[in-house]
Amino acid sequence: MAAFARHGRTEFAAAYSNAGGLGITTAMSYDVKDFKKNLDKMEELTSNPFGVNITVNADGDKEVYLKYLEVAINAGVNIITTSAYQAPYIGERIHEAGCLWFPKCPLMRHAISAQEAGADAITLMGMESAGNKNPFQHTTLINLTMGKRILKVPIIAAGGLGDARGFLGALAMGADAVCLGTAILITEESPVSKERKEERITTDIFTEEYHQSLYHRRFGGTRVPSPSVGFQSKIVPLKNMIENIIQEAELILKSWGFDKEEFSTLPS
Ligand SMILES: Cc1cc2nc3c(=O)[nH]c(=O)nc-3n(C[C@H](O)[C@H](O)[C@H](O)COP(=O)(O)O)c2cc1C
Repeated sequence: MAAFARHGRTEFAAAYSNAGGLGITTAMSYDVKDFKKNLDKMEELTSNPFGVNITVNADGDKEVYLKYLEVAINAGVNIITTSAYQAPYIGERIHEAGCLWFPKCPLMRHAISAQEAGADAITLMGMESAGNKNPFQHTTLINLTMGKRILKVPIIAAGGLGDARGFLGALAMGADAVCLGTAILITEESPVSKERKEERITTDIFTEEYHQSLYHRRFGGTRVPSPSVGFQSKIVPLKNMIENIIQEAELILKSWGFDKEEFSTLPS
């Protein structure tokens, strides 16, 4: 699960974990004093694994980030994702506490330095992604195929993913997992308003205006959702969305000649 300022709340993250993914609570969705309460709530809402994201601004307060981290560590969370600004000091503390560190990187050089700093896995964010953009980002395809050659740690693919073909494509290109952002904001459990979800579903991703907004080639966020809105035509429960991706992926693999017994979601 991707990190979401404001929307990356406990209930949403728990629903993602319950649907079979790795739910991520975005720490900055809460005041540090409410964060602990919300992690306790997470324990009540899911018995599946979950993690926490700390989104770091270059000029943000180090002490505040470390406070969020301490709360997560004390609550027993053992997977921490970081994003935006690279934060080796956070990575160091994560490792000291015996937890796993998954930084998210837009550029290969960031990924290489995160690997050198000890990252356990790296989310590579292609230019198709929503959220903050780096003008020198490559596509998800280039990040993954090149990343597979260059990096030694497991890679998590992000950017424009949200259907079975994107999921399988990402695995084929070198990813070990995928990170879903925009796509899951259009589910029933997402805290985004119904009007906003409907607006997203009807976004035409093939206009020049959309293209210019998404690939604006400046530092900073984009005004539009990622092209993965194009995969959805209605608001569905998170569990259905994830199951559909997995089932369709298995059907595609079967159509390619895979007939292994390990498929588990297709009706026999
Ligand atoms: C509404 C919204 C808010 C986001 N907020 C954050 C954030 O606070 N921190 C962060 O690291 N990424 C943030 N992102 C980026 C996502 O974590 C993720 O990298 C991106 O959505 C993946 O691309 P996709 O949208 O094509 O799936 C946000 C994305 C969206 C759509």
